[in-house]
Amino acid sequence: MTLLVTGGAGFIGANFIRCMAAAHPTWRIVCLDALTYAGNLSSLEGIAEGPCFRFVRGSICDRQLLETLFCEENPDAVVNFAAETHVDRSIEAPEVFLSTNILGTAALMDACRAHGGVRFHQVSTDEVYGDLPLDRPDLRFTEETPLRASSPYSASKASADLLVMAYHRTYGLPVTISRCSNNYGPYQFPEKLIPLMIARCEAGQSMPVYGEGKNVRDWLHVEDHCRAIEAVLLRGTPGEVYNVGGNSERANIDVVRLICRELGQPESLITFVTDRKGHDLRYAIDAGKIRRELGWEPQHTFETGIRQTIRWYLDNRSWWQTITSGEYRHYYERMYAGR
Ligand code: NAD
Ligand code: TYD
Repeated sequence: MTLLVTGGAGFIGANFIRCMAAAHPTWRIVCLDALTYAGNLSSLEGIAEGPCFRFVRGSICDRQLLETLFCEENPDAVVNFAAETHVDRSIEAPEVFLSTNILGTAALMDACRAHGGVRFHQVSTDEVYGDLPLDRPDLRFTEETPLRASSPYSASKASADLLVMAYHRTYGLPVTISRCSNNYGPYQFPEKLIPLMIARCEAGQSMPVYGEGKNVRDWLHVEDHCRAIEAVLLRGTPGEVYNVGGNSERANIDVVRLICRELGQPESLITFVTDRKGHDLRYAIDAGKIRRELGWEPQHTFETGIRQTIRWYLDNRSWWQTITSGEYRHYYERMYAGR
């Protein structure tokens, strides 16, 4: 099996490559990543040196590069993680989200078509379904919930999902889509809620919570997401969508308070700042289909997973401190100045 993993130097892609390299040591894994601000090769340390692994720096939008790479590697399957992923950045500057997330996905699928119909898995998000009200805990997203994206990020991911299904119907490309809830775990870029709050809390800096912190996210450990993608890739039915979620809904403020408690810092660090534009209220996934049809179950509870994750960031300060000392600092000042 030769697997092409795009976006494999990012948070979930790097965890996926680590999981697959451990579970399937005979697989050849080729990682294509543009190394944008979010890509970090040090997340693949220990794997990148192995004989079954190849890293290629380049964009999924580069059709010439894809043609060369497909000729050289003849992949059996493609798992597409490559994307612009931060909602706040998409609100500031949507265009790159459209080119990478939509046109890049189409370019990858065209390469799959040109090479005999290569199996294609699209890593998508629960955010394509829009949001749910806070006062209806009975509601959850199923695979049949209509797409109703709120942000430029989620709209670009929803557009890609529509294209993926269209390539299946029109060209018969063997595709699957997984739509997962919010992930947490090692190697997440410290612009996202959990690593950002850990980094700021441990430095005794203010912890910026949007609005009143009542928005709810359904958290899943990244390793459970990786195992779900593996299950869909190996046992999923082409043309199908699979929701993936942890059944671990938490209000943002509760997650942030837990981080303060775990780090022994006062809650007075928490600062309520102006809300995100169009801020989705609540995400909640019904993962019944993947449980029933593919036998997938999450292995981590939020309580143990979040503590292990906090420990990982404390034990691996150098991983994120090199990031926070660079471009990211300018980003933080730009995003939060006067907020
Ligand atoms: P990330 O931002 O940490 O990583 C994205 C990676 O894609 C980076 O390594 C970046 O360099 C690479 N990349 C960006 N543009 C590229 C391009 N044009 N060509 C090649 N590589 C490019 O993102 P993540 O959190 O690991 O998310 C991975 C995927 O999972 C995304 O598609 C995202 O929509 C989806 N997802 C994320 C979550 C979450 O909670 N993080 C939840 C559900 C789904
Ligand atoms: P984020 O990690 O950006 O993921 P997403 O927006 O894709 O769910 O944010 C998670 C939640 O945390 C979301 O409701 C926005 C909120 N949030 C804050 O309150 N403060 C912050 O500084 C960030 C980055 C996020």
